[in-house]
Amino acid sequence: MVIIAIKDAKKYLGQEVEIRGWTHNIRSSGAIAFLQLRDGSGRLQAVVVKNDVAPEVWDAAKSLTIESSVIVRGIVKEDTRTPGAVEIQTNSVAPVAIAQEYPIGKKEHGVDFLMDQRHLWIRSSRQESILRVRDEIEFAFREFMKLRGFVLADSPIFTPNAVEGTTDLFEVKYFDDKAYLSQSGQLYQEATSAALGKTYCFGPTFRSEKSKTRRHLTEFWMLEAEASYMDWLENLQLQEDLIVHTVKRVLRECAADLALLGRDTIALEKVAEGGFIRMHHRDAIKELQAMGSDIKEGDDLGADDETILTKKYDKPIFVHHYPVVIKAFYMKPDPDEPDRVLNADLLAPEGYGEIIGGSQRIDDLALLEKRIAEHGLPKSAFEWYLDLRRYGSVPHSGFGIGLERTVAWICGLEHVRETIPFPRLLNRLQP
Ligand code: 4AD
Ligand code: MG
Repeated sequence: MVIIAIKDAKKYLGQEVEIRGWTHNIRSSGAIAFLQLRDGSGRLQAVVVKNDVAPEVWDAAKSLTIESSVIVRGIVKEDTRTPGAVEIQTNSVAPVAIAQEYPIGKKEHGVDFLMDQRHLWIRSSRQESILRVRDEIEFAFREFMKLRGFVLADSPIFTPNAVEGTTDLFEVKYFDDKAYLSQSGQLYQEATSAALGKTYCFGPTFRSEKSKTRRHLTEFWMLEAEASYMDWLENLQLQEDLIVHTVKRVLRECAADLALLGRDTIALEKVAEGGFIRMHHRDAIKELQAMGSDIKEGDDLGADDETILTKKYDKPIFVHHYPVVIKAFYMKPDPDEPDRVLNADLLAPEGYGEIIGGSQRIDDLALLEKRIAEHGLPKSAFEWYLDLRRYGSVPHSGFGIGLERTVAWICGLEHVRETIPFPRLLNRLQP
């Protein structure tokens, strides 16, 4: 007897197999029971015909409830209703645990209820597909970085200081002292890239942003890359290549999941061609004003601005050269345009908006000291970071890509809360 994963069932046509999973649904019409099985790899129908099986097998099939765990044996047959698909002609049914009445039914549930039931909700086909695409995106990220010669150098999560501003830090007790949960691993990547040339980290990041939007989590995953001797333009090309690599891989490996999610893959194919748009911040403002936004010269782009701008184009947009005054302390001003930094945000199309933030970093010691002071940051906490400019400073650049926003965009989802197994939001820490 061969134990198989449902996704491989087609390869076993005509053979007897064993499937270990759950009954996500059951239908029965007098003398035939249809068990809708899932095992994490896929879904498959097992047909039990009363007159073809022993009475105990029929009784076992009848005892199953939604989400009972069960081991089914039978012959893999072509499913006559769906061409190319297969089903199981069942010989034996062994319940493992009969489930109590399942709280998630067929009726429409509100989002809050489903979020409370997140530990069970992830068993639904839609959530399963999203999590599989997330896995593929994470794999594509790591694969790309490896192919490009980046070394994974994990940044710490407990940190002594802020990176992206001091307002959204989570403070934790650290023995007799305090620490913060990392907002970004960037500063450490600047150190590791000076040791190893090109490095990245990929892990959880924390921000106590009091934002209740479809783009914000308090705990999210970010891949942060940093490369010595890379200038800001090479940085943009690297980001574009990462996105193209990732979208191509997901289109290739997750076609069934994207179809289940109803994703318009034409829009993704367009992105996979490359040729992303590059727009100076000043021009982005002009374009937004022409579209009716009340944004003013020098303003940061709001979420609504990003939405209308990215709905206009079918490629991702790099908005570069933001004003120095609205950006982080470490970004390098453009020598030709000193009130602007050599940065770019990458905005995903179809209204999704920012998924990447990146820049060339200040490599001059005196300027960096000045910027730290201007931002009111404690210099003592940054002495080690300043050392990177004291000992063999080089021009260098990097970026951070938010995993959940990328998953939301690639899957075509309304909200980031469905992109991570257990989302952490302003008002949600359960389950
Ligand atoms: O633009 P951010 O703040 O950039 C940095 O943290 C840099 N230190 C990165 C670097 O250069 N190494 O964040 C980068 C990305 C955003 O574009 C977004 O995709 C994601 O992180 N992000 C969030 N995702 C979900 N929820 C939040 N609250 C997020 N905040 C940022
Ligand atoms: Mg940003």
